[in-house]
Amino acid sequence: MPTPSLDMGEYNSGQRLLVRYSPRATGADADSVPEADLELEIIHAYQPFSLSVICKVVIHPIAPTSSLPPGLPSTCIMKLFDRRYEHNTRNYYGEAAHQRYLAETTREKPRSIWITRRARKRDGEYEAKIEEGCRRMMRNEMRAYEEMRELQGTHIPSLYGTIRYTSPVPPPSDTGELSDYRYTAHGRILEHIPSSTLRRYLEAAMRNEPPLYDNIRLVCDQAMALVHQIDGLNVLNRDARLENVLVSAVSKDDSKTFYSSPFPLQPHTAFRCTAIDFACTRLRYHDETDEEWRRAKEKLDEEGAIGCVIRVTLRNEGKLRDDPVDGERIWTYVPSRRWHQTLSKEEYEVYCEDDEWGLYAGKLAEEDRSVGGDASDESDEMDEGGREGGETLEARTKA
Ligand SMILES: Nc1ncnc2c1ncn2[C@@H]1O[C@H](COP(=O)(O)OP(=O)(O)O)[C@@H](O)[C@H]1O
Ligand SMILES: [Mg+2]
Repeated sequence: MPTPSLDMGEYNSGQRLLVRYSPRATGADADSVPEADLELEIIHAYQPFSLSVICKVVIHPIAPTSSLPPGLPSTCIMKLFDRRYEHNTRNYYGEAAHQRYLAETTREKPRSIWITRRARKRDGEYEAKIEEGCRRMMRNEMRAYEEMRELQGTHIPSLYGTIRYTSPVPPPSDTGELSDYRYTAHGRILEHIPSSTLRRYLEAAMRNEPPLYDNIRLVCDQAMALVHQIDGLNVLNRDARLENVLVSAVSKDDSKTFYSSPFPLQPHTAFRCTAIDFACTRLRYHDETDEEWRRAKEKLDEEGAIGCVIRVTLRNEGKLRDDPVDGERIWTYVPSRRWHQTLSKEEYEVYCEDDEWGLYAGKLAEEDRSVGGDASDESDEMDEGGREGGETLEARTKA
């Protein structure tokens, strides 16, 4: 039986997508800002895609309008959550099984949010799980951007609005049957930051002749200042890593914006670090105690996820050089230990019994159950990662 391809070609460079755009607006403005149809021309696709399709796009208005919605630059990043392109956990996409699964599943027998071991990768059930994952990740990221509103444009990209894209391409079929079904993906339009990822920057700077040690120090300090700022907010990011920090050169004029923001970055550096990708975050629950939150933060250690990995990267790159250097001498990670607390004997015993240590509280599972509803519901967004056998859907699909 032929295997339908996961790549339907619609996100290749040069392709144009028609999308419905809703500008980001909240509070009193929310109803008054009109939606708009836009054409997005793909300039670059950040392949390979995981659950999310990321492309640099040029935005064109659609006649009779000849201008873009106010405040929307013509070059942006499009981030679409499109389960059809999920390459990491399956090499097959067929919609027919999914549609059968949806038709057979009743509300009395709600679909589980967890990926069950029995859900095989060609099952409609597995496809439904991925769809739920898309919705959760979209919602996670939206919430994080709202929570970090004040950091947009300085520490994180500006969020301009959300988009809805209905593919004109019919789903691939292994039976030859034609289908009227058309997939709709939800996503957002973000500021494009001409940049490199922190990992690529470090590798290139260490491999340069001579290595750019001074710049590496500035960038690493800037990256840690960024992570430290975000770590202090009500956001828990389970995907803090070097690929999710962007590094760009800053002109003198731009630097005024970054350093005079409400949360100034490190002064006097020629680099801007920007955090991206909040699809695997959750916000602090409204009833989460300080201690629960502290535990979750300590356990996850977002700061260490960047600092320790920078250290290892510098060490490995240093060894690879013809004249090996000690990475520790270039830059050293000093943990802030802001979430650390020395435990009493009694507390330590409780700690040993609770291997989750507050990270995935029971509340999380409850919240997940409450979003396990209608996968075809267009209500915008989703929620936290499900967990089965110690592995989240996000972890699997973003692996
Ligand atoms: N705002 C942005 N500006 C420039 N490049 C970006 C931006 N957002 C994402 N990218 C690029 O796309 C890649 C993937 O984006 P990301 O949001 O991390 O999605 P995912 O990891 O889920 O695929 C990043 O590593 C980066 O190279
Ligand atoms: Mg990423």
